[in-house]
Amino acid sequence: MKRALHITSSARGAQSYSRGLSAAIIKKLTDRKEIGMVTERDLTRMPPPFLDEKLIGEFYKPADAISDEGRHLLHYADAIFSEIDAADIIVISTPMHNLGISAPLKAWLDQLVRVGLTYRFNEDGSRTGCFQNKKVYLAIASGGRQAFWPDGHEFIESYVKAVLGAYTGITDVSTYRVEGTAMGMPEIDYGAILQNL
Ligand SMILES: Cc1cc2nc3c(=O)[nH]c(=O)nc-3n(C[C@H](O)[C@H](O)[C@H](O)COP(=O)(O)O)c2cc1C
Repeated sequence: MKRALHITSSARGAQSYSRGLSAAIIKKLTDRKEIGMVTERDLTRMPPPFLDEKLIGEFYKPADAISDEGRHLLHYADAIFSEIDAADIIVISTPMHNLGISAPLKAWLDQLVRVGLTYRFNEDGSRTGCFQNKKVYLAIASGGRQAFWPDGHEFIESYVKAVLGAYTGITDVSTYRVEGTAMGMPEIDYGAILQNL
């Protein structure tokens, strides 16, 4: 059985629809014995630190040049790298906030992406992502509905796919959505949303 990492990023705890959707994905994969062990990372309980000048400096040092202080600063980034490295399937949930991903999820991505670790430069200047054979399920909850937004206003799936593809090598991303949560929703049928999973 495969190993899964479940990343949640809504501040609304048990009320969260994105969390409900990603939990339903985890349950479905578990029920059909596709995944066994699941590592949980709730980005709102232990928020990722924002990048600062010192940490950015450490990101660009070769491993043998990192001091003890640097290792301490890299503690969070190293921990989330190990988690994603160990996972075959990564389930990520996010609320839509101001058309984009949640702030903690953005901070997590900023801690994850590292030259020499999640991607490297080739001799011609192009990039190669370092992860292979990983699958991402992306669960998005939004107050409105995509059908009502102007063309070109999809910034969550497109952004997550672009960052993971360019800077980690993960290109297999399937997206599921709960839409219209601000419009007085009846009980959500997560099973129906996930029927093609
Ligand atoms: C600060 C904030 C910004 C939001 N921005 C948007 C938005 O741009 N578009 C939208 O459709 N809904 C927006 N919403 C509504 C949320 O996407 C909606 O409540 C969704 O259910 C949040 O996910 P959650 O239930 O997992 O917390 C926003 C909500 C908050 C609190």
